[in-house]
Amino acid sequence: MSISIRICTSYEEMSELAAIELYSVVLNKPAAVLGLATGSTPIGTYEALIRLQEMHPLNLKELRTVNLDEYLGLPGDHPQSYRYFMDTNLFRSMGLSTEQTFVPNGLAENPEAEGLAYDARIDAMGGIDLQILGLGHNGHIAFNEPCEDFPKHTHPVDLQENTIQANARFFDSMDEVPRRALTMGIGSIFKARRILLLVNGAAKANILKEALEGPVTPMVPASILQLHPNVLVLCDKEAGSLLSQEA
Ligand code: GLP
Repeated sequence: MSISIRICTSYEEMSELAAIELYSVVLNKPAAVLGLATGSTPIGTYEALIRLQEMHPLNLKELRTVNLDEYLGLPGDHPQSYRYFMDTNLFRSMGLSTEQTFVPNGLAENPEAEGLAYDARIDAMGGIDLQILGLGHNGHIAFNEPCEDFPKHTHPVDLQENTIQANARFFDSMDEVPRRALTMGIGSIFKARRILLLVNGAAKANILKEALEGPVTPMVPASILQLHPNVLVLCDKEAGSLLSQEA
């Protein structure tokens, strides 16, 4: 297995290490393409990256970023949209413009076509140098929910009930929680040259073990990472508590 696992003493340590990974990619390749994620997990990473950039500024003019997913039906200025999340948690503080930061368009009239165009854009940029991933409670990565086959391309998806419920904490009422999203496919994610999976908290211990040590199956979408040649898992000790070994 080509997954490296580092169990960190705390969420803060995990976040610092993840930020250093992102920072090093840009240090070595100013025109890098970073694949970014939303959710509560990477917030500490983005805070640490902003601190690093303030202390030792890199030229970010050539950097481009691509995000994993977006809710369908939410405009980019909606406070719960992933575009808004990225603007407020990272892009503004780093001085990154909308021209260099890509998030799937949640208002696309034809989400299928938008998905294919999104993949084509990533290919045209030369592919993703480092992709950050979080882990859903049901094993999803981005919004690739458990299903029969690993989806290849960026595509529209119906969110599953447990995902809708997990997302509800960010909305005022259940009715407002989007039911659909546009997400990079497993194939789109898999093309990244390096992947960094971030997982924290005891509630993710079971699913992390299943993803890393169970069978590779689309019923646990993150299990596909076992087959990727360059994956680093950074988790805190609570999330890593059931893993049989640190690789
Ligand atoms: C959402 C996002 C995923 C993210 C997951 C976990 O479903 N689409 O990309 O990994 O949430 O979120 P959290 O980090 O808040 O547990």
